[in-house]
Amino acid sequence: MNKSLVAIFFSFALVAQTGVDGPQFTADGQLTFPKDYRQWTFLSSGLGMTYGPAASADPANPRFDNVFVNPSSYRAFIETGHWPDKTLFVLEIRSATGQGSINSAGHYQNELLGIEGEVKDEKRFPQKWAFFSFGGKDRATAHGADSSCNSCHAQNAAVENTFVQFYPVLLDVAKSKGTLNAAFLQKSSH
Ligand code: HEC
Repeated sequence: MNKSLVAIFFSFALVAQTGVDGPQFTADGQLTFPKDYRQWTFLSSGLGMTYGPAASADPANPRFDNVFVNPSSYRAFIETGHWPDKTLFVLEIRSATGQGSINSAGHYQNELLGIEGEVKDEKRFPQKWAFFSFGGKDRATAHGADSSCNSCHAQNAAVENTFVQFYPVLLDVAKSKGTLNAAFLQKSSH
């Protein structure tokens, strides 16, 4: 390969690296379910977190939430403390159980109860962020800009629309880069 071919090859490789793992939309604007999200970057698990009307029906077996983000956006966040355009999050909700195999105390994760998505796409959505509920389907339409998803996230999240206050490694990054939302800093100083 001569030098210019090598240069062309590397510039294609760079283009391929950015955004390929981000959100994919159908022609009619639905978000495609990211089937490989289990290979993405794991942010954290919440256990029995209760912040909306959909509280756990079974307090003895609190539900787990597992949060994942596409790896290229994770790397960008570690460097800058901001989410790049075309970031995609998955929130996986699982039931808990304590009884099985050799376990005699504590809980582990069990059945899949639901999968939700959240996208940052500055051109596609006027409010930049949009929320999705997959409900077992392989595509989902965005909840309206006035949905409870949008308002709770916009009002309470620590970095942009995301709950970085509950993801310990990212919270340290946001603190050191100075990217926590002003409203979040004000509330947490009381
Ligand atoms: C009353 C507040 C509230 C509402 C309403 C709400 N969420 Fe969230 N959401 C949270 C909190 C708190 C977390 C933090 C992590 C957790 O639950 O494990 C979160 C986390 C998430 C995440 C992971 C990424 C992030 O932002 O941190 C996704 C995806 C998500 N929610 C989707 C939705 C969708 C879709 C809806 C609407 C159907 C919704 N949420 C409604 C409070 C809310």
